[in-house]
Amino acid sequence: MHVSLLIQNAQILMPDGTFQTGSLAIDQETIVQVGATDATADRTLDATGLVLLPGVIDPQVHFREPGLEHKEDLHTASCACVRGGVTSFLEMPNTIPLTITQAALDDKLDRAASKSLANYGFFVGATSENLPDLQTATPACGIKIFMGSQHGALLVDDETHLDPIFATGTRLIAVHAEDQARINDRKKEFAGTTDVAMHSVIQDSEAALNATKLAVKLSKKYKRRLHILHLSTGIEAEYLRTDKPDWVTVEVTPQHLTVNTDDYAKLGNLIQMNPPIRSAWDNETLWQALLDGVIDFIATDHAPHTLEEKAKGYPYSPSGMPGVETSLAVMLTHAKAGKCTVAQVSNWMSTAVAKAYHIPNKGLIQAGYDADLVLVDLEHFKEVKREDVLSKCGWNPFEGRSLTGWAIYTIVLGQVAFENGKCNTEVRGKALQFDA
Ligand code: DOR
Repeated sequence: MHVSLLIQNAQILMPDGTFQTGSLAIDQETIVQVGATDATADRTLDATGLVLLPGVIDPQVHFREPGLEHKEDLHTASCACVRGGVTSFLEMPNTIPLTITQAALDDKLDRAASKSLANYGFFVGATSENLPDLQTATPACGIKIFMGSQHGALLVDDETHLDPIFATGTRLIAVHAEDQARINDRKKEFAGTTDVAMHSVIQDSEAALNATKLAVKLSKKYKRRLHILHLSTGIEAEYLRTDKPDWVTVEVTPQHLTVNTDDYAKLGNLIQMNPPIRSAWDNETLWQALLDGVIDFIATDHAPHTLEEKAKGYPYSPSGMPGVETSLAVMLTHAKAGKCTVAQVSNWMSTAVAKAYHIPNKGLIQAGYDADLVLVDLEHFKEVKREDVLSKCGWNPFEGRSLTGWAIYTIVLGQVAFENGKCNTEVRGKALQFDA
């Protein structure tokens, strides 16, 4: 057999969670053989000492194109993706124009086809007025509802407008769950503060819990497929442990597992995000919920803003931080420290995501699956440095930390998109499919 790409001597993560040292034969976009092979190939990679994982599927990113390209665009963001071992992403609708119509979705798909190194999918955003588009805009990975922390048309925060969205259709609804009315009250109560640490007090745990409970209530009313984005609080995790229907999924970000309110002293508004960073107790309670399966998978909420914008100071500084470049290494560093296993990280960042969003042929290393892969080095540690950042925003919240599990090779549909520290900017991903 002659194939396009052969990976030799890799420690391959098998679908059952075990590792097998061997080869992987890839022909064009597809894995054709796993384990021993006598195939010859156009190109052979020697992966001695490296671990082969399915490429990361990041199910919540903000890539800013169109309209906010001074922060990021689909090309720079996708370069950052492949540096981080991310081979597919699901992108959010708060761009300009908002992704709330078929035309806006088509425009994003065209842009991504022309410039994204990674595979791509997009959410359609809910407003109080676009119920028909929410059912028909295609292909969409789901409907995004901002129940809080958003201005303008994408904010849908009252039950009278939320109810018909949950009542109509069957598509996955992904919610940013924060109670905007409570946040508005608390903004008034704490008006005048310039201390960014107050962000976590103003947009408190109660605001997150109220909205999560409302989303679960509406999901139960209509048995509607619900996904809760970036769970941030221990009290939400404890509530969901007792009240999580089996058609509901939940995600957490690496930063909500790793960073806490003590870090404001050093990082200031670089770690200002929505929902906010919480306490060390929340970090640990979220970890336990992830390990126990209350939380299903991981997303970065990659939300880049420029350093100039962040320098405006609280409360004028925008919320959000980049994540795709470091998420896999952050999680594999936790695995190396004994918090979890490498196989669990891969499940949370790839397999479980493909399953939840019904993305066919991705998230596992097996014959017939798409050749979206990452070879990581778990033997060495390397510091996160600003000068290495590929995201257009030019900074990363984990700068200064020493991480392991960095991508050495990232492969998108059989094409080597990142190798030895460099992107192959000619590589293009494809639109993701979402089975019914
Ligand atoms: O911190 C955040 N920033 N949270 C969001 O939900 C939106 C995001 C952004 O787009 O900047």
